[in-house]
Amino acid sequence: MRYMRSVAAEYFHAMIEAAALEGHEIGIRTAYRSYAQQRDIFNGFAARDGAEAANKYSARPGQSEHQTGLCADVSSPSVNYQMTTQYGDAPEGKWLAEHAHLYGFIIRFPLGKEDITGYQYEPWHVRFVGTEAAAVIYEKGITLEEYLGAVD
Ligand code: DAL
Ligand code: ZN
Repeated sequence: MRYMRSVAAEYFHAMIEAAALEGHEIGIRTAYRSYAQQRDIFNGFAARDGAEAANKYSARPGQSEHQTGLCADVSSPSVNYQMTTQYGDAPEGKWLAEHAHLYGFIIRFPLGKEDITGYQYEPWHVRFVGTEAAAVIYEKGITLEEYLGAVD
């Protein structure tokens, strides 16, 4: 589950190398997931929390951008490689939020934008959109939905 589409992977590697040069270790937890993998993940969470609650942090199969190969869940030593909202305050997570756009990535599910994205804050989930779109999204502090005009 660490595959990414080649264009995204190329930029991703450049990004984590740049982070490493500044002393930040950023590693992939999962990137590409098949429909079946996403189904099993979602069903596991739904069995634990109920489907509605689970869908606030986990996409239903067929609806996850992990299936596109254009995103990755990352983490770092300072949060013991966990996927936790504390990552947003960790040095590596802060570096990521400030530099990802230079490599064409965005923090896809930002804090305070849950009503727009439909998902809880995920400081660990980066999505490749290309450097041009990522720069606009970063500078305006908007979501991909807003960028695409999907939200007024
Ligand atoms: N955690 C994100 C929303 C996903 O499951 O694709
Ligand atoms: Zn993710």
